[in-house]
Amino acid sequence: MLAKPNFYVGKVPVYGDLILAPMSGFSDLPYRSICRSLGSSMSYTEFVNVDELSKGRGGSPRAKQKLCYQPNERPVVFQIYGHDVDRIVSVAQRLQDLGPDIIDINMGCYVKKIAERGAGAGMLRRPTLIAHLMERLVKTLDIPVSAKIRLGWDDENRNYMEVARALQDYGASLIAVHGRTRSQAYTGEADWDAIAEIKQALSVPVIGNGDVRTVSDIDNIKVHTGCDGVMIGRAVIGNPWILQRRDRQEVTLTDRLAVVRRHLALNLEFYGVEKGLVLFRKHVARYIEDTPARVRKIRVPLLTCERASDFESLLCSLGSEMNEPLGVSI
Ligand SMILES: Cc1cc2nc3c(=O)[nH]c(=O)nc-3n(C[C@H](O)[C@H](O)[C@H](O)COP(=O)(O)O)c2cc1C
Repeated sequence: MLAKPNFYVGKVPVYGDLILAPMSGFSDLPYRSICRSLGSSMSYTEFVNVDELSKGRGGSPRAKQKLCYQPNERPVVFQIYGHDVDRIVSVAQRLQDLGPDIIDINMGCYVKKIAERGAGAGMLRRPTLIAHLMERLVKTLDIPVSAKIRLGWDDENRNYMEVARALQDYGASLIAVHGRTRSQAYTGEADWDAIAEIKQALSVPVIGNGDVRTVSDIDNIKVHTGCDGVMIGRAVIGNPWILQRRDRQEVTLTDRLAVVRRHLALNLEFYGVEKGLVLFRKHVARYIEDTPARVRKIRVPLLTCERASDFESLLCSLGSEMNEPLGVSI
């Protein structure tokens, strides 16, 4: 018998309560596949600029690559951003042909050149535009629309309730909330009280996000906010096992290296050998943080090697007795 969905996005069932956060440069197809297999219950792509998706035939190759996914990742959420309503709507309409389950609008990016042009978190300054955008998207698309927001532009403009209500009133089927303002970027603490306030006021599912670093944080944010799902970003990098509700120190080196190998193989397949290896470096650096000294000793060679076979030889040099818990330094 199939398990009961934890929540629905429109008519799309979501089985599970943990979700890998969209992260530009990280949540690509290979990493999403790893995270999905370990417990992420839906797949958000990295955000993609609608201007890039308007170039050439169906967008620049880089933009199109970001929207590749595997069938077993469903539900798949395409996350896009822009500042021009007409362009967002026409791109979203076209993207439907690629078969995503949900289209998500990024309203949280704090990067200056994006936010100050009115895209990403810049949208939060214009709740009327958000309402208009949602209304148009919902009327135009056949699939559910969602948004990922921050709490507002800055401390003086924490208009998250107005934004959340506008989103729901104009048809958004899901809202993910990072509990910080745009001006906070990543400073201070995520405000889980604000997420709780949004959850209480809305009937659509709300995903809580911000500062979930350990398995106990997962339980805490759920109890604190009542959110339907928990989105985890930075703490998943190098530690996808948090999606299995396993803290970093519980994962054996054997398990860790098995995922390193699988992730690298997926990277090489998806990007080709040269690019796949280079793009894997930032991941491997994080996978081997807090590992025993003999693993850290091969850190630099791992981060600089240029052939997959050299990478594998380095991993093999660690030997076969790798079941010690990671807390133990050898
Ligand atoms: C490297 C990086 C890239 C990110 N890229 C995106 C993105 O493409 N879209 C998005 O909505 N949020 C993006 N975020 C924000 C995360 O989704 C998340 O909201 C934020 O990191 C807070 O969650 P955390 O405390 O669990 O990391 C990014 C965050 C990081 C660290």
